[in-house]
Amino acid sequence: MSQFWKPGTERPQHCLLDDEEGGVLFFSAPANSSSHGFSNLERQRQRLPVFKYRTAILYLVENHATTIIVGETGSGKTTQIPQYLKEAGWADGGRVIACTQPRRLAVQSVASRVAEEMGAKVGEEVGYTIRFEDKTVQGVTKIKFLTDGVLLREMMDDPLLTKYSVIIVDEAHERSISTDMLLGLLKKIQRRRPELRLVISSATIEAESMSIFFQTRKKNDVGAAEANGPKNLPSILSVEGKAYPVEIHYVQDPVSDYLQSAVDTVLLIHEKEPLGDVLVFLTGQDDIDAAVQLLVEEARVKTTKFSGLLVLPLYSGLPRSDQDLIFAQTPKGKRKVVISTNIAETSITLEGVVYVVDSGFSKQRYYNPISDIENLVVAPISKASAKQRAGRAGRVQPGKCFRLYTEDYFVKEMPAEGIPEMQRSNLVSSVIQLKALGIDNILGFDWLASPPSESMIRALEVLYSLGILDEDAKLTSPCGFQVAEIPLDPMISKMILAADILGCLEEMLTIAAVLSVQSIWTSVRGKNKGLDEVKLLFAAAEGDHVTHLNVYKGFLQSGKSSQWCYKNYINYHALKKVVDTREQLGRLVRRLGLVPKSCEGDTQTIRKAIIAGFFSHASQLEEYGQNGMYRTVRSSQEVYIHPSSVLFRVNPKWVVYHSLVSTDKHYMHNVIAIDPSWLIEAAPDFYQLRTLNPALF
Ligand code: CDP
Ligand code: MG
Repeated sequence: MSQFWKPGTERPQHCLLDDEEGGVLFFSAPANSSSHGFSNLERQRQRLPVFKYRTAILYLVENHATTIIVGETGSGKTTQIPQYLKEAGWADGGRVIACTQPRRLAVQSVASRVAEEMGAKVGEEVGYTIRFEDKTVQGVTKIKFLTDGVLLREMMDDPLLTKYSVIIVDEAHERSISTDMLLGLLKKIQRRRPELRLVISSATIEAESMSIFFQTRKKNDVGAAEANGPKNLPSILSVEGKAYPVEIHYVQDPVSDYLQSAVDTVLLIHEKEPLGDVLVFLTGQDDIDAAVQLLVEEARVKTTKFSGLLVLPLYSGLPRSDQDLIFAQTPKGKRKVVISTNIAETSITLEGVVYVVDSGFSKQRYYNPISDIENLVVAPISKASAKQRAGRAGRVQPGKCFRLYTEDYFVKEMPAEGIPEMQRSNLVSSVIQLKALGIDNILGFDWLASPPSESMIRALEVLYSLGILDEDAKLTSPCGFQVAEIPLDPMISKMILAADILGCLEEMLTIAAVLSVQSIWTSVRGKNKGLDEVKLLFAAAEGDHVTHLNVYKGFLQSGKSSQWCYKNYINYHALKKVVDTREQLGRLVRRLGLVPKSCEGDTQTIRKAIIAGFFSHASQLEEYGQNGMYRTVRSSQEVYIHPSSVLFRVNPKWVVYHSLVSTDKHYMHNVIAIDPSWLIEAAPDFYQLRTLNPALF
């Protein structure tokens, strides 16, 4: 059985705990303590709920291979536990404490917070690594924050993750696809490295199932060094927070436009309620940017207290300078309104929030293995999420949560729990990573929750047709191994490798870098006219990818000018990110032995290279019109070119798209015009002639 342990119940004997504030005995002295007292930050640290459990946590980690810590958001799990472990010596002798997060922005923000608390600069004792950005120094960095995806990649070079003494898998309740894979793999590593400690930290009580997962063992998974190792039973520690009550308000009738309704609610709060910050949950960058703008406009007209409002967006693509504003203390007499994705649900804590406005939606990934369509869709959240969101209002004082859905809906229709990402995702990237780690029997892998076998089979099929797996479902050499080395979607990696062979790798690195940022255009709800005109300046008849090359060239020619971007409705920060990412990708492909060459604007060659990765994303025009209807070749889905594409209204007969996004219809994003014979050339097995309409040849 797993052990539940809370202070005041079954205390480990030598774990000295005093329930009075501040009366805790330490195993070792806290950092930054000095004879003339604690710094302000140090006092803040000691006020966090997790502080009372410091001794207990250290005791459990010392004595158990796996410790599961459940505690409310904001109780100090992420920022404090790595520091406690460091203070207790877990980072001595060149070892490193790792703490994973599912979200990049959370990695950066907690790393800077912890660095500040330790009086260090980010990138020294405290560092972080996210894809394409490594702020750590070997031999210096003791606490390292990283995404769960990056830790998975590190396993490819160091399968036993030997440099880490403790790995904290944080935000485990999010059940991101990489977290789920990590848990399965870490369980394997533990058998070979009994000295490794795992801490799994979660905001909700899924702890029991995690605990059972770490106790049970697959049949053939025999560990050698177990007899003398730490206890195998995972222990569960539950950290009690000190949340204040939150009053929940529902709408009387269902709302038709949650964005407008959110804006109205914030204005109402601002008019009627005492000061206190507002946190609004919307879904993604588009609706958040639109809401920020709408709120500022309407506040100007509708409220006399406009100057007291400070409206800020929060989403993953946000530039660093804007992130700092989010965490800065609200100036006296002002009210901060942060409009956020579900990143503020549990991964990031904002001080001073008293009011929460919950749209009831978030952007979620959904994959349908039958149609092979993966989508980011705006979908209803679960009750568990709604509860987390409401809880954000009760951190500093009693708060209020305004739900933009009816109580009836909440009670009768909202699902209790979300579905793990693993069970609603395309598994192509996961399969390739497991293969690269030498896990051949993927269906038999020790999953926390098994992915659907249809998704698995689909993934194997796609990888086979891309030439990444061979008939025995092993990685091909060199293609499969090279694709596994590139930290991008395997279809993009394949496109890069094909570009090398076709002699347009220079161009493809740019395209891949652009596709890795959200959008290079700035968009403003309802005011796209200027943008549309500007797009024509860059537009290429071949489609969006080639247009991206024109924009990139223009940006370089302008001397990377922000003015130029502003004039052309281009997102300066996104393009700077593209330049950075491109540089990193360049270094990576050179390491793989490729030498980037340019095809000097031969767009046919460029499109053929794109097709080498994306041949399965082909669609054929079926109905001409203002915005013609297409059908995907693979699954005969009805799809349309997204209005943001330069090919919107052009309607070429055949196109290949990068991704599908569904709102009212399935929209193809980033589209190129192609010749259908290129599809057969690129993937003869995948496209037998008969699947394409012969009349078109
Ligand atoms: O991980 P958990 O949700 O339990 O809490 P945490 O992220 O460690 O946050 C503990 C405290 O640190 C909260 O009161 C946050 O407001 C504060 N914090 C901060 O001020 N700035 C950050 N970038 C991160 C945390
Ligand atoms: Mg946390």
